[in-house]
Order: sequence, then C-alpha cells, then structure tokens
Amino acid sequence: MTPAVEFIDVTKRFPGATSPALDHVNLTIDPGELVCVLGTSGGGKTTFIKLINRLHDPDTGTVLVNGQDVSQVDPVELRRGIGYVIQQTGLFPHMTVSENIACVPKILKWDRGRIDARVDELLELVHLDPSDFRDRYPSQLSGGQQQRIGLVRALAASPEIMLLDEPFGAIDAITRAKLQDELLRIHRGSGKTFVFVTHDVTEALKLGTKVLVVDAGRVQQYATPEELLAHPATPFVRELLETQGYTPEGRRA
Ligand SMILES: Nc1ncnc2c1ncn2[C@@H]1O[C@H](COP(=O)(O)OP(=O)(O)O)[C@@H](O)[C@H]1O
Ligand SMILES: [Mg+2]
Repeated sequence: MTPAVEFIDVTKRFPGATSPALDHVNLTIDPGELVCVLGTSGGGKTTFIKLINRLHDPDTGTVLVNGQDVSQVDPVELRRGIGYVIQQTGLFPHMTVSENIACVPKILKWDRGRIDARVDELLELVHLDPSDFRDRYPSQLSGGQQQRIGLVRALAASPEIMLLDEPFGAIDAITRAKLQDELLRIHRGSGKTFVFVTHDVTEALKLGTKVLVVDAGRVQQYATPEELLAHPATPFVRELLETQGYTPEGRRA
C-alpha cells in the first residue's frame, strides 16, 4: 500500500533561526488515517503540514504524497488534491456561502447543476439548511458555522488528503464538541486521509486514529491514542499528558 504521506529525513530551518523548525523527521501516514499532530506552541506542527502542501519546502529530505515527491509536482496542481482548513477559515468575505464552497469545483469546470447539487449535499453534511445558508455571506454566520463552511469548502472536490490546522481553536467548548463529532463522522464516511493539528490533548485522543507528538521540531511519539496513554515515549509526552489531566490509568477526575 502506498502511504498517503511520507517524510524521509525531512529538516526545515527558517532563515536566522538557531534551531530547525523540523529536525530529521521520518514517518509514514497510511491512507484513511486521521492523524492528530499534537504539541505545544512553536513545536513545528504548522510547519509539518505546510510541508505536505508545499506552503514550505524542506531544506533536506523528501516529502512524498501518494508516492510522489512533492518537489516534482506543480504546487497549484498538488494543492487541488489536498484540502486545507485553518482557524481563520480564509472564507472570502465578498462571496456567499455557496460561492465559497464552489471555488474549487468552478476551477475544475464542473457544470452548474453538479456544483449546485454538491453545495447542497455539503451543507446538509454539516447540518446547515441549504435554503437558509446558501446565499448568506460569511459575516452573517456564527464562528461555528463559519468553521463548518471552511471545512466543507475544503471537501468540495473530494480531495484525497485533508489538512486541518487547529480549525476549532477559537470555538466555544460545546460547539467545538459538536464540530469534533461532525469531523469524525465525515472522516469515517469519506475514507480519506486527514491530518489534524491541535494543542489539545483531549481533542487529539478523541479524534486521532494515531497521534503524532512533536516538540522542538522532533517527533516525540507516533502511536495510537491507547498506546500514547499507556506508554508515553518521552518525558515531553508524559508531561504534556499530565498537565492536561491524563495519567496511564486514564483521565483524572
Ligand atoms: N515563516 C516563518 N519564518 C520564520 N520562522 C518560522 C516561520 N514559521 C514558523 N517559524 C518558526 O518555526 C518554529 C515552528 O513553528 P510552527 O510550525 O508554526 O509551530 P506550531 O504550529 O507547533 O505552533 C517556531 O520556532 C516558529 O517561530
Ligand atoms: Mg501552528
């Protein structure tokens, strides 16, 4: 089976930085996984996913997507097959919800009927009534609704890989739990590969089929949630779990 994503000895150093943002990273992500990238601020999580869609290029090493070295692929072409969701949603404020969702399908020259059907299907997928939401502008949506639109916009042309960078970071706890449930349902229904960045241990353990803990640009552990809880591989992992209330026996009261 060709991995969805593979990092071979990848190092990324930003100009002027004393230490690399990512340091000799080796790992593979199998198709269909939902990998949560977990760590504290500045650890290299965003850099990791931006190397997948070539918003950054490595200094040394190779990143492969579906078996292809991304440095050999046109970045625009590459990104068409990779959905990208960020906390600030990146919705176009002057476009309606349906126009936002239709962006990539339009570039791909889908016909009107197919686009309209896809927009409605996606709105229903995140429990937003199409007749109510289709023609609204982003400013007429709550934070949680905006995040749902950002998510389905990235899904519109059914990319093989979805990258999500702390998408629910600015959302209240109750809405966030609902969005997490929706994301899980969408992931399971899609069979696609998701890479989800978070600094929240609970979120990573709830969502991830695997959790990738990074700190100071190094992989600390890459394991299932169960394995991570039972056998934290490094002092950083143990401390991260403990400070957010987790022990090998399970969650503290
Ligand atoms: N464009 C950039 N230019 C210079 N340094 C950067 C840039 N992006 C990230 N960094 C640095 O790389 C390190 C990792 O950052 P980042 O991947 O954004 O961490 P995280 O997403 O885990 O908070 C940090 O030290 C950060 O300051
Ligand atoms: Mg980040």
